[in-house]
Order: sequence, then C-alpha cells, then structure tokens
Amino acid sequence: MSPSPSNEASENVASGPSPLPWHLLPDNASVGPNGRLSIGGCDVLDLAAEFGTPLFVYDEDHLRSRCRDAVEAFGAHATYATKAFLCQAMAKLAAEEGMGLDVASGGELHVCLAAGVSPDRLVFHGNNKSLTELRMARDAKVGRIVVDSFDELDRLEALHLEDGLVPSILLRITPGVKAETHEYIATGQDDSKFGFTVSTGVAKQAVDRAVEMPGVELKGLHAHIGSQVFRIDSFAAAVKVLGQFANPLGLPELVVGGGLGVAYVEGEESASIAQWARAIRQSVAEANIEAAIGIEPGRAIAAGAAVTLYTVGTIKQLPGIRTYVSVDGGMSDNPRPVLYGSGYEAFLPRAVTANRTFEARIVGKHCESGDLLVRQAKLPQDVAVGDILATPVTGAYGHSMGSNYNKILRPPVVFCRDGNARVVVRRETLDDLLTTDLG
Ligand code: LLP
Repeated sequence: MSPSPSNEASENVASGPSPLPWHLLPDNASVGPNGRLSIGGCDVLDLAAEFGTPLFVYDEDHLRSRCRDAVEAFGAHATYATKAFLCQAMAKLAAEEGMGLDVASGGELHVCLAAGVSPDRLVFHGNNKSLTELRMARDAKVGRIVVDSFDELDRLEALHLEDGLVPSILLRITPGVKAETHEYIATGQDDSKFGFTVSTGVAKQAVDRAVEMPGVELKGLHAHIGSQVFRIDSFAAAVKVLGQFANPLGLPELVVGGGLGVAYVEGEESASIAQWARAIRQSVAEANIEAAIGIEPGRAIAAGAAVTLYTVGTIKQLPGIRTYVSVDGGMSDNPRPVLYGSGYEAFLPRAVTANRTFEARIVGKHCESGDLLVRQAKLPQDVAVGDILATPVTGAYGHSMGSNYNKILRPPVVFCRDGNARVVVRRETLDDLLTTDLG
C-alpha cells in the first residue's frame, strides 16, 4: 500500500526508462503487433479518429467486473456512488450488475430515474438537501434517504404533514476518524460539515428524534470517512466506533460508505474491492456488529476503467526551464490536478510499451497557468505535435466534475466491449452552449 496518496502533489520525476505501468490501464487493455493500444478490443487511435478528442474511453467489462466484485462481497447492500461517474448507460450498467445507486442531488436522482433504475434501489445523499429534493426523493419512493442534519429531519416532518408518506431513512454519523487523504475529501473527522457527530452526543440525539418521528422510518446508520483512502485500517477504526455506537440501538442496517483508494501513478498500489471487503467484514466481526453491512464505492468501480485521449497541439521548449506539451482539453475534463494536486501518468497509445524518457509538463488549453494535467510527465522521446496522448485512470471524478470553462465543449464518452464502441454521451455542440442562454 502506498503511504502517499496521489491526491498530494505527485512529482513523478523520470527515473530511468520506464514504460507506463500496465496495471494502470483498464482490465481489457491490449497491445497490438503495431504497438498500439486497444481497450475492450477497440484500437484507441481509431476511436480518436472516429470520435475526435478529447475523448473518454471506458472498458465496459472493467466497470461490470468491479460492480460484480462489490455485489459478490455485499450483495444487495453494495451501492455505486454515482458522483464518481454518471450517465444513463452507467446507471443501467450498475443496476444490471445488481448494485444499488447512491445519488447526492436532485440531478443525479433525475438521471438515474431517466435510466429506468428502480427507485427502491436508490439511496439519496447530501449534506444540504432542499425541500424540493426531499420532495422529489419521497415522491419517487427512493429506497433510503440518508439524513444529514436536524434541519432535514424538520423538512421531512413538514413534508409528512402534507402527504403522510413515511420514507425509510438512515442517519449519517460522523465517527471522529480522520482518514489519511487530501483534506478536501476527508469526511470522518469531527470537524466536518457532514453528519451527526458521535463524540458530542449529537448522533444519539438524532437517533432519539428519528425514532420518535412519525414521518420517517429509521432503518439504520451510515458513515463515510473520506475518499481516496489507501489505509484499510482507517475503515476498521471507523467500524469500531460505529459498532460501539450502533450495537445498543439494534438497528438492522449499517452502511460504512465508500472511499477505497486507487492507484493513479507509478509506484502506487491499492487494495482490491475484495480485499477491502474482507477487511471490513473482519472489523465488523471484531466489533460484534449484527446489522446488515453496506458499502458505497465510486472511485474503485470507475476510475481504472477509463483513459482520456487528447491531441497534442503545441510543444513549447523553454531552454533551461522545461517543456510544455499542450493538449486539447485540460481542467474542464479533469480538474483533479488543479483541485487536489493529484498525480497522473501520460503515454502515447501509438507506442504504449515505449520507454518514456522525455520529461514535460502536460497542460490544457484554458486561459490560466494552473491548467495542468500532469505536472511532471514522462513521455516517449519522439512525442510530436498531432500525437494522440492519453492519461490513464480517469474514469472517476473527471467527466463528472467537468465544466464548460472557456466554453470548451464537454467530451463524449464511449463504452468499449468485445471490439464494439458505443457512444453513451455525445460531444457537446456549440449550440448546446446556448441552450440555457436566453440572449
Ligand atoms: N459515499 C458518500 C457518502 C460519499 O460522499 C462518497 C464520495 C462516496 C460514497 C464514494 O466515495 P469513493 O468510493 O468514490 O471514494 N472529487 C473527489 C472525490 C469526492 C468524493 C465525494 N464523496 C476526487 O476527485 O478525488
């Protein structure tokens, strides 16, 4: 397990010839006799030629296999956190593989319902659900609402007075466990905007109130300590606190959240979903928890399933300083390097096993210096303008956190499987930029 999560600025300085570590590519990646990369049986340079760049290329079977791993470990209590990557095809895929779906806004709920996901398989999250969102969730009859505050309990009470519906809820609990990850995505510590804190007695007050409220049916508790967490013992620490708090309450369900870290760069290694599940099961047994246990992975399902393809537009060599390789996307399709200092690798799909001995900073086309994709990348020596360049492990929190900054068009998404590529999200058009603009 890597001690340094890639959410911290990763200075992956070239250290001798090193091809792209193969394990950073999706499961069904292969290299043809011409040295070119295929994903899901589709030659990625052909995909770039057909669909243009930037382009998100997903290995559909990789996504399916990770969903199956989660379901194998936790059955119907395995829930996919759609914030990691969501479109209708992804919602259908996760549901087909037996996962529930976690949505954290009315928008995510809308997409899942549009995809035809059965509402009882949806879990509605968020630290500030509006009355409108709560109404939407109740009207849709989602399986669980994860209540995050007393204000939300008030809103649910008010809605109950209107229509008499009694949704099933979980209460989000803050266990007071600080996960080792970027501070922006650590959520288990007491100083957090999420949940009801155990250590201050607030969590107990929330349980007492929910038990007495006629407008909700309290099914259990929920916790999520953070994201991109490599240290499995952090989850065990949370389970211990949850057990101590939850066992005397005798509630039937306990969800321990998502957060399993994934490897983004050379030298990082992460636990598999099965290993993570085993560790959770063990800590659940040690804590004598009898409630049904649920998990909510997002990144571990989607991150490794995709690569992003770009076209190199300019290469600027600044003597004695560095080389900038500019591509046709940037912070609008992957804001993670800018937001969290996250590290990524880069490679050329035309020579996926080539040594990468050329150091460069890979930047996007947005109008600011912070628009970088790979701070200190290694590329093959012969990288040239017009090359298709790829970054692996971009399947989670890339497309979903994308933007239209500089009115750059959002890239399309293709799912590849058995040599077939299907576009599941089309590229935005210039006219799309005007659809909400009333002039
Ligand atoms: N459950 C809850 C309640 C969550 O808030 C999250 C993520 C998950 C599950 C899924 O966590 P995962 O398994 O994906 O780590 N934008 C950040 C990540 C934010 C995560 C937010 N919550 C990033 O790009 O690293």
